[in-house]
Amino acid sequence: MIIDGKKTAAELRQELKKRVAELKSTHNAVPGLTVILVGEDPASKIYVKNKEKFAKEVGMNSEVIRYPADVEEKVVLNKINELNEDKKISGILVQLPLPKHIDKRKVIETILPGKDVDGFHPMNVGNLSSGYDSSIPCTPLGCSLLLKKAEKNLSGKHAVVIGRSNLNGKPMTQLLLKENCTVTVTHSKTKDLKAECLRADIIIAAVGIPKLVKGDWVKKGAIVIDVGINKTDSGIVGDVDFDQVLKVAKAVTPVPGGVGPMTIACLLSNTVECFKKLN
Ligand code: GUN
Repeated sequence: MIIDGKKTAAELRQELKKRVAELKSTHNAVPGLTVILVGEDPASKIYVKNKEKFAKEVGMNSEVIRYPADVEEKVVLNKINELNEDKKISGILVQLPLPKHIDKRKVIETILPGKDVDGFHPMNVGNLSSGYDSSIPCTPLGCSLLLKKAEKNLSGKHAVVIGRSNLNGKPMTQLLLKENCTVTVTHSKTKDLKAECLRADIIIAAVGIPKLVKGDWVKKGAIVIDVGINKTDSGIVGDVDFDQVLKVAKAVTPVPGGVGPMTIACLLSNTVECFKKLN
């Protein structure tokens, strides 16, 4: 089975469009998302353009604030403080990566936790790991929703997460624990990654190494979620060797058309959730 992220994301956006319309009629207001983009990173520019497009499609207010790569850190922090106070803004996202002279940690910690649609603020990170209500990072949230398409009950499954980043690996681990999975977190220093993967009922690949996960790394009937987006001479490929893995897995996500579209749909969903809590 190929898990269709494009279709699942379109369905989620359709549902969000209805919820936004309802909020408009009951609250006479719609959620507002502001994205801050610093510099000219080509991948970031594409992501941000798509975020703006889909936010408008579901009927939200959406604004992108662009700064040159050499903008002073305090200009960005002042803008975040202004957005924190602005009642029309429900969600704030600062696109990463940021230029080196800007302290990422300071930026993330300046965003009001209730408007942190990325779920990167330590308050949200802590709440998620404690099992309390929190914003959930969009990519792992998208992965969870796709996993559920292939298997409703994840309880007791052995999940192997490849990668331990704050963006994906760590929050993904928390979400899998919430579903009662047994979780192994692997990374660049893991001794025998293939052996770890072969034990998995679920593999989440989020390392940024093209086609790392081969067909003979996957147990028959496993579910494989590919978070990778790697530019190669033969185009964009994931962290999973899709053609090989499709032959052994129960289900696998393609790249493109898997996790990518879900990330943006989940960002919109988080913005609606923030709006509801703030109002
Ligand atoms: N850059 C790549 N992915 C992300 C994300 O999920 N959020 C933010 N803020 N920046 C990113």
